[in-house]
Amino acid sequence: MARPAKTSFVCQNCGAVSPRWAGKCSACGEWNTIAEEADAAPPPGSGLTKASKGRVVPLETLRDAADAKVARMPTGLAELDRVTGGGIVPGSALLIGGEPGIGKSTLLLQLAAAFAQAGRRAVYFTGEEAAAQVRLRAERLGLSKAPLALASETNVANILATLAGGKRADLIVVDSIQTLWADALEAAPGTVSQVRAATQSLVRYAKAQGSALLLVGHVTKDGQIAGPKVIEHMVDTVLYFEGDRGHPFRILRAAKNRFGATDEIGVFEMAAEGLREVANPSELFLGDRLASAPGSAVFAGVEGTRPLLVEIQALVVASGLGTPRRAVVGWDSSRLAMLLAVIDARCGVGFGQHDVYLNVAGGLKITEPAADLAAAAALLSSISGVALDPDRVYFGEISLSGAVRPAGHMLTRLREAQKLGFKQAVCPAAGELDVGVIKLGLSRVDHVKGLAETLGL
Ligand code: TYD
Ligand code: MG
Repeated sequence: MARPAKTSFVCQNCGAVSPRWAGKCSACGEWNTIAEEADAAPPPGSGLTKASKGRVVPLETLRDAADAKVARMPTGLAELDRVTGGGIVPGSALLIGGEPGIGKSTLLLQLAAAFAQAGRRAVYFTGEEAAAQVRLRAERLGLSKAPLALASETNVANILATLAGGKRADLIVVDSIQTLWADALEAAPGTVSQVRAATQSLVRYAKAQGSALLLVGHVTKDGQIAGPKVIEHMVDTVLYFEGDRGHPFRILRAAKNRFGATDEIGVFEMAAEGLREVANPSELFLGDRLASAPGSAVFAGVEGTRPLLVEIQALVVASGLGTPRRAVVGWDSSRLAMLLAVIDARCGVGFGQHDVYLNVAGGLKITEPAADLAAAAALLSSISGVALDPDRVYFGEISLSGAVRPAGHMLTRLREAQKLGFKQAVCPAAGELDVGVIKLGLSRVDHVKGLAETLGL
């Protein structure tokens, strides 16, 4: 007699498995996320069904492996090449996460079309839209002539059969993993076990064929790839496509990359004719700056190896509330609380009776600690009502003691500021700097008090 299929209880948020149902997941703390799912039988021929004898695999030494150079396929989009570390590696799997509507499908369509136009075989499976919709979009993007193979399909078995039936593909795009389902499983599409099973079979196929696989995954509001956090370890590269829907800028960031660094970003602009690459992001992020207003400071940042100048805006107003408001956009709120406390304790400028708003212009998110000095300058400028010198940039990390700590890539930051016509920079006193090539007037500060003095406050 066939045994009834075994089931387990899987959290749809984090993928944790528990023996019985519970209202709250003990692993991630989310409520109502646990669902009963049938366990997948091990795939036939995988050798997991009974104890297998095993065979000897050839071993190679590290030295041999070092000689093997990774071949890469350039994508035709310089910004994407930069993030992936020089192009997509054949046989690798990439996951692109991002909020709905941010432009993932647009990016992948442009990429797949560029591949097809370069004479490579690209196949695009969409589970979210009808093929006609994709064709319409391609028309709008001016890509309708590209020899891109296209199908609207959500069944993994059909996708694999289609791929096996055609010529070997160099690039396979699947938009999105949440719509896929494997009919061997009873769970609904989008559940953890479906997403995991579908990804597994697609990745296995792509690796065997040496095709690059690009998977789209939606993220939840708190920025996690919904449910399929569990598949991040199955793919070689995880990219996040971020941005504010109210702004045209989009940032592509690598969260994991087995074939390159993870600190590079790609910058795109969403325009009427699709995503446009932005080669000089600083100019764009500073484009509509009103430098004569108090509370605006330019931060000389670095993302990866690339300098990025961005405006930080602060607004400090008298508060009518018992507990004054603090609001941030593109900035970490606990970092703002820390900055306010340090300025209060070390410069004697209190914000206790004021509402404080801090905004990073252009929809960018800043995580670099070196932005502290620029934010502090913007805050001091806003509370005193004195506009800062528009020709000055700021960078440096502020510690709790008020000391300004050195930042990396000083020369890169200063060069970029110089290139964009800035005349002065406020930067950390510590840190070697070969000032021969820098024509900027430098104010090197070692304490946040020094910043207030430099600003004349
Ligand atoms: P889309 O790629 O469908 O987002 P996702 O796949 O991440 O859900 O694109 C989303 C938005 O981009 C859509 O709201 C309209 C806008 N858009 C443009 O502004 N210009 C264009 O050329 C295209 C194709 C889309
Ligand atoms: Mg889409």
